[in-house]
Formats: sequence, structure tokens, C-alpha cells
Amino acid sequence: MKSRLITLEGSEGAGKTTALNTLCQTLDEWNVEYIVTREPGGEENAEKIRDILLHSEHLHPKTELLLMFASRNEHIENVIKPALKRGQWVVSDRYVDASYAYQGEGRKLGFEVVKWFDDFIVGDIQPDLTLLMDIDPEIGLKRIKSRGQADRIEQEGIEFFHRIAEGYRKKAKIHPQRYAIIDSAKSIPEVKTLIQKALNKHKRHLL
Ligand code: TMP
Repeated sequence: MKSRLITLEGSEGAGKTTALNTLCQTLDEWNVEYIVTREPGGEENAEKIRDILLHSEHLHPKTELLLMFASRNEHIENVIKPALKRGQWVVSDRYVDASYAYQGEGRKLGFEVVKWFDDFIVGDIQPDLTLLMDIDPEIGLKRIKSRGQADRIEQEGIEFFHRIAEGYRKKAKIHPQRYAIIDSAKSIPEVKTLIQKALNKHKRHLL
């Protein structure tokens, strides 16, 4: 069986935790060996960079982009590639498409600059399947506000999150075969069912 990389994406408050639980349950049912990781982070140096990214008082958008890819490089080289080589699947809570959405669209750095770093750092370690948790940013932000203290990125205004949602939809249109778009405005049981259906649809080409 070929090892696979599955990524979870979405704007803030889109229900990635529910998606992650459902995804792991399904992989267990399929008897797949996998690791769960996240970005930014998932590795010692990458977690230190995550702290700078999420908790610095200020950060220039270009610095933010560079740090996202610096942490991603450590993550890919030290965690993702070795796991795939061992034959394990990798489930990553966010990955390179987040940089297209957040830095490319959200911070308005543009698609091309992110693509350059994608080619340079990620190369052919591209996801086999991406679950995009799609939510109206107004609903998503309400959900995260009820959770308490927001980090540096979560404190941005609503326009920023509209650009991100649009950025993800744009990326999904480029890769329709590997994207499953999940309507996360639905209730948790409905979202779980949508994810299970999407996974079953992709099962044949993944296994
Ligand atoms: P999390 O909330 O899913 O833990 O992700 C941390 C934050 O980092 C979230 O606001 C999205 C943001 N982010 C980017 O801006 N660009 C990226 O490339 C990644 C992976 C995350």
C-alpha cells in the first residue's frame, strides 16, 4: 500500500477538530497506520517557529510567509518524509494550501510568490487528499470568539477571513480531484456524515 498525505484545511472556526476525529476513526477502520501532525509546527524547531508566528506582537507579512515555509521545511524533512518512507500515512492539520489562502490571499502577497516557495520547499510532497472545511467566516469567527483568547492571526478583521475562504475555494478549483469540500455550517453529526461520504468516495484511489 502506498503511503498517503491527507491534509485538513479551512478558515478559523471551521470545525477541523471534528474533521480530524472522523478522519482518524475512518483510517482506523481501514487498518491504516498513520501519524497526526500539524502546521505550523509538528516538529521541535517548527513548534518554536509556530510560537513566533502566533504570539509575536507584530510580524511583517513577508516574514510571516518566510517563517511558515521555514517551519514547513523542518516539518517535511524531519517528520513527513521519514513517516512516508516508513510506510505510514500522514494526516496534517493544515499544510501548504494554508499559505496560499492566508499569506497569498489574506496578506495579499499573491499566488505566484507562494507557488515559488511551494515548488522550492514542498516540491512533490503534495497532499493526496485535502478536506476543506468550508464555513462562512462570520459563523467561524463567532465560534472561535466563544473559545476565549484569540492568537495574532485570529485577531484579524472579517475581510481578511473572507479573502482566506475565497483563497481556499480558488485552490480547490485548481485541484478538484484531490479536494473534498465539506459544508461545515451543518450540525456536527451531519458534518461527520459528509466527511465519511467524502472519504469513502476517495477510498479506492487512496488504498
Ligand atoms: P491552527 O489554528 O489551525 O492551529 O493554525 C494556526 C494559524 O496559522 C491559523 O490562523 C492559520 C495560520 N496559518 C497560516 O497563516 N499559514 C500557513 O501556511 C499555516 C499552515 C497556518
